[in-house]
Amino acid sequence: MKPLRKAVLPVAGLGTRFLPATKAMAKEMLPVVDKPLIQYAVEEARAAGIDQFCLVTGRGKTAIVEHFDIAYELEATLRARGKEDEIARLRASQPPPGAIVTVRQQEPLGLGHAIWCARAFVGDDPFAILLPDDLVLAEKPCMQQLAEAHAATGGCIVAVTEVPREQTNRYGILDVGEDDGRMVEVRGLVEKPKPEVAPSNLSIIGRYVLTAEVMGHLARQERGAGGEVQLTDAMAKLIGHVPFHGLRYEGRRFDCGDKIGFLEAQIAFALKRPEMAPAVCAFLARYTAETVCA
Ligand code: G1P
Repeated sequence: MKPLRKAVLPVAGLGTRFLPATKAMAKEMLPVVDKPLIQYAVEEARAAGIDQFCLVTGRGKTAIVEHFDIAYELEATLRARGKEDEIARLRASQPPPGAIVTVRQQEPLGLGHAIWCARAFVGDDPFAILLPDDLVLAEKPCMQQLAEAHAATGGCIVAVTEVPREQTNRYGILDVGEDDGRMVEVRGLVEKPKPEVAPSNLSIIGRYVLTAEVMGHLARQERGAGGEVQLTDAMAKLIGHVPFHGLRYEGRRFDCGDKIGFLEAQIAFALKRPEMAPAVCAFLARYTAETVCA
């Protein structure tokens, strides 16, 4: 079996839910504490042994590419101020030369279309997808959990979690076969089904390991939910042809494409920082005491 070394990160989305913050800035550059969402995603992939990245970008996203380049003027200023530690930190978070390529999604035709834009990068290899909006706080990085499961089963694996029934219309939902509590056999996949017709309440989060065959199905550009080319529909066509599993990952996921999820991520990640946690706890206690919540 070929090792998992490639990741595709779709970053072309407009971020309309975060206007005006995202009017002139890529939503993937929004920071959680002090790190942009895109950097969490790249670091998570690197921790899983992935060393080749394809960013699927669009207009107004150049800051993301700049973020992974060397900032010479900044480094010179930091050096003049004796801040060598800061320089070392910046360098450590930067993938080596040539590790990141970009392709452009010219039109917002859906997640499936964005992934298909990376077909030349993927070639015949298995590949990971990380949606930077989904941030996972975990002891073992979520993509590493998926990569390990993939090494055992091959085929396709998606990270899954239970959601309240009334929220099935926000996610890709699994039709569940055999289920050992951690690994779930995928019998079917439906994109954003209404609660009354959803085959389960087990939803896909933005972490996938897929085989290259999915590109053949995406190439047909069939429109699905919301009139968009849906990744979920193309993945569903692979069921029965390659092993297909859902992994109930260990960790907590934050939907940073949503204001409340984003705010919660700030608090959760800040509380994991020993130098910040006491102050955050203190102000949370103060606000909770002062606020009468409905
Ligand atoms: C996308 C996928 C969906 C998945 C979700 C995870 O939806 O289409 O299947 O459950 O990401 O975040 P989007 O959030 O782009 O609407």
